Amino acid sequence: MRAITSLTLASLLALVPVVPACTSSPDDAPPAAEAEPEIDRRTRELVAQMTLAEKVEQLHGSHLYPVGGLWETTANERLGLPGLKMVDGPRGVRAGKATTFPVGMARGATWDPELERRVGEAMGEETAARGGDVLLAPTVNILRHPRWGRAQETYGEDTHHLGVMGAAFVMGAQEHVLASVKHYAGNSIEETRYEVDVRMEARTLREVYLPHFEHIVRTARPGSVMTAYNLVNGQYCSENPHLLRDILKGEWGFDGFVESDWVFGTRSTDAAALAGLDVEMPVDAYFGDKLVASVEAGRVPEAVVDEAARRVVKKQLELRRDHPTRPPPEVVESAPHVALARLVAERGVVLLRNVGDALPLTGVTSLVVVGPLGATANLGDFGSSDARPTQAISPLAGLTARAGATPVTYVAGPTLSAEDVKLVGAASAAVVVVGWTGKDEGERIMDKEGGDRASLRLSADQEAMIHAVAAASPRTIVVLEAGAAVVVRPWVDEVAAVLMAWYPGQEGGAALARLLFGDAAPAGRLPITFPRDEAQLPPFDDTSSVVEYGYLHGYRHVERAGETPEFPFGFGLTYTTFSLSNLRLDAPEIGASGATTARVDVTNTGGVAASELVQLFVATRGSKVERAPRDLRAFARVELAPGETQTVSLPVAARDTAYWDDGSGRFVVEPLGVDVEVATATARLTAALTLR
Ligand code: BGC
Repeated sequence: MRAITSLTLASLLALVPVVPACTSSPDDAPPAAEAEPEIDRRTRELVAQMTLAEKVEQLHGSHLYPVGGLWETTANERLGLPGLKMVDGPRGVRAGKATTFPVGMARGATWDPELERRVGEAMGEETAARGGDVLLAPTVNILRHPRWGRAQETYGEDTHHLGVMGAAFVMGAQEHVLASVKHYAGNSIEETRYEVDVRMEARTLREVYLPHFEHIVRTARPGSVMTAYNLVNGQYCSENPHLLRDILKGEWGFDGFVESDWVFGTRSTDAAALAGLDVEMPVDAYFGDKLVASVEAGRVPEAVVDEAARRVVKKQLELRRDHPTRPPPEVVESAPHVALARLVAERGVVLLRNVGDALPLTGVTSLVVVGPLGATANLGDFGSSDARPTQAISPLAGLTARAGATPVTYVAGPTLSAEDVKLVGAASAAVVVVGWTGKDEGERIMDKEGGDRASLRLSADQEAMIHAVAAASPRTIVVLEAGAAVVVRPWVDEVAAVLMAWYPGQEGGAALARLLFGDAAPAGRLPITFPRDEAQLPPFDDTSSVVEYGYLHGYRHVERAGETPEFPFGFGLTYTTFSLSNLRLDAPEIGASGATTARVDVTNTGGVAASELVQLFVATRGSKVERAPRDLRAFARVELAPGETQTVSLPVAARDTAYWDDGSGRFVVEPLGVDVEVATATARLTAALTLR
């Protein structure tokens, strides 16, 4: 096996002419054979030499449990095809120890696609070094509700932001391996994930739940897309011809292979194969002998198997062509990767509140860290994304190392004794670390751990701990660790500062210390809405077997309802202030296929160098269909020295205002007025655009 996987493409292809064809399956050359790309021709020739059984063997995994973290599809030694080795997952490579990055949601909060490309590249490199060919990441499902257990794996609630961040990850990862983008589509409930039928209107599907997948497929060309367990509009995703054949492979021109999610992800032989599922993982419950029998009985045309085999073979050939050698094992947890994990953690933490300049920690002569999570490196859930590093830094360890001669004490809690209260009161500042762990939220593991969150509020003992610390220390700083939004209303007014640290990865404690001590200014901005109360959100139903997804969720829902969330989408403070001015459009009027550029001046009006996020939203006026109050369509980051001004340019196209018209089966741009809104966490400006 090792000899085969280390074959270069040249030696692999050299085998092609000497292997006798032993199949009668048609060599269906396309009409314009001379225009056929080389890799397609080689793929076609290889598949034409396979027996039906050999082709089907390419279309499923070969063992239930991973070996050394790797699942695999079967090699074809006769034809020199190595098969594909697959490994999880979204926050680090799940094969032995690996660099453990902040979770996807923390990376979403960086709003920095270039940084995310580097994360993808690092994970791709570690995947390749561990012997993997396919990285089962990124997770790009919409965060429809923050109680979703796997919220931490994805990047946020908005389709545009998700598409940009996911594409960046895929481009980075595919510098070394193939990425499998998951879970296509509509997967955002954990407890009922295997059987829930997610129903939605065509507009909701096309405008909210699919555009990010489309963006990733078209711009980053992922090698694979993984189907979701759930049903969409009455059909399992893995046997949903509308999602797989019509849209993914047809409209978007996806040229990789579609694989099922593991075990319960494939539900049938004929329906799945006909719908366009190419690979069943991790074994052959439906796609082994049963698929051979279906072809022999005429229930599945052999051309369907040929197409699937060609997709899988082509990606193996491309992989060997583009990455003929593997990186050395030393790249795993290498110093640059660990430094990247720290930088991403630092850039993803969101400062939500900072009253009376509680932060940064200047003039502090002693510090107390409070809470069980204070001394824990809280990396995230225990599901398929559960990467583990050789060592990880807790908040206490990070703060102690950074504090130097300043004493740092620790109070475990959650219940505080009279002695604890005295300690807290005596310190210059108290850092309380609270939140969730993989026991309470994450991918559901064996009915024991993870699953959807029970509530958006912290546990009663943690809330009581915050009240007690806040009563003892006027400089109480709350650090939240969670995959998604927390309802902070019951205690937030009592504390001086709040930071959202998500699950910040192996270097989280060090990154946190740098931010608290002011070595770096907070840069994270919320990629999701933090409601004041769960009632501000659409209902979350993780018990029913049928759920209806409406058109609005997240900021689009809260804004339509006229509600004021606790912290809005895009929110985040830092150690300086910014102003926005002089918003202008290059063209105030464009046609239905036109585009223009919005330009705005951003000024750092405070005394600290920092980075700001600039978002562009479109809001249509007078549409004949229901619209969200505004939709994000572009964003950019800008680094500014104190007093510095820079002009930020953001593209806006007529297509950004289109709605899906199911009658005609296409996106329609209406001639109407559009408010182009450019916003930071604390300011917004609007310019009028006319679509002719
Ligand atoms: C998860 C996938 C994961 C796969 C393999 C499934 O249960 O939903 O995200 O890649 O297992 O671990």
